[in-house]
Amino acid sequence: MSSHLVRVDNLKVYYEKKTGLLSLGKKYIKAVDGVSFYINKGEVLGLVGESGSGKTTVGKALAGIIEPTSGHIYIEDKDLYALKGEEQRRMRMKIQIIFQNPFSSLDPRMRIKDIIVEPLKIMGAKDVDYETIAKELIEKVGLSIHHLNRYPHQFSGGQRQRIAIARALSTNPDLIIADEPTSALDVSIQAQILNLMWDLQKELNLSYLFISHDMGVIRYISNRIAVMYAGKLVEVGDTKTVLESPLHPYTQSLLKAVPIPDPKKARRERIVVGEPPDPANPPSGCRFHPRCPYKMDICGEDEPKEIRVNSGHRITCFLYQEK
Ligand SMILES: Nc1ncnc2c1ncn2[C@@H]1O[C@H](COP(=O)(O)OP(=O)(O)O)[C@@H](O)[C@H]1O
Ligand SMILES: [Mg+2]
Repeated sequence: MSSHLVRVDNLKVYYEKKTGLLSLGKKYIKAVDGVSFYINKGEVLGLVGESGSGKTTVGKALAGIIEPTSGHIYIEDKDLYALKGEEQRRMRMKIQIIFQNPFSSLDPRMRIKDIIVEPLKIMGAKDVDYETIAKELIEKVGLSIHHLNRYPHQFSGGQRQRIAIARALSTNPDLIIADEPTSALDVSIQAQILNLMWDLQKELNLSYLFISHDMGVIRYISNRIAVMYAGKLVEVGDTKTVLESPLHPYTQSLLKAVPIPDPKKARRERIVVGEPPDPANPPSGCRFHPRCPYKMDICGEDEPKEIRVNSGHRITCFLYQEK
């Protein structure tokens, strides 16, 4: 038995790439290509990386939306994709997801009171007073019971994301996957939603897999950080450790790209130099090597192994491997 709420073991998710009629064989987009991590009960793991690195795909596999190509996801030591029937239903209730775009994630034809309890209904929960639950949840996310009879179009982006959070809470989950929950919102609203998620996490002792491309958001909410690059994790560790002594060159460059509060300076330092790789055709060896300022010959030839620098700080980079 492990004490982890979630354990992801060598997860791979490949999408079939549509190719022309004449091309031979199938091509795969290796969106997630051998990722392992855990999340403890009551802990926030921040998953950060550039667009296209596979973060959403990890989140969808955890939420049961995309079946992994291989690997395992264990929730309380139960293999999520091996469960059947009632056991699977109960396990799925423990995990909810909040999507990036609150304008497309709420059904425009449904009233808020029905949206909020929809996951409960889908799970076939019996003997529950849906109305009471909807009332409790709408207030928990800072809206009022007068909003329950309205439709999504009557709300702003921030309010819609509050409704999406209420919906995620309806099944009383242990884990919420928050996939860039503030990225689509006005800057002035982002902090409010982030604060709400912070408060709820503490109050309900929730675990989050909090996904963002923005290190500034990740550093605020996470206990630990996992850095993803081209389908792989390159560094995992406590937030303080990763922020104060980032070891992977990619993490170092991501941290340099965090906005600078001084208005006289440029709003953002230079983002990581170069382009992210094509996930259908990733570079040989370490996937970051074409953009890495410290690259050595071996980096293009071999794949680095993950090593443990100290308890919980893991890094996948030849710079730290014993020669
Ligand atoms: N349904 C899909 N079919 C094919 N390719 C996909 C699909 N979803 C995502 N991808 C590709 O997989 C890679 C990872 O995507 P995603 O998980 O959305 O990354 P992120 O959330 O980090 O931006 C990208 O190259 C993306 O284009
Ligand atoms: Mg994404």
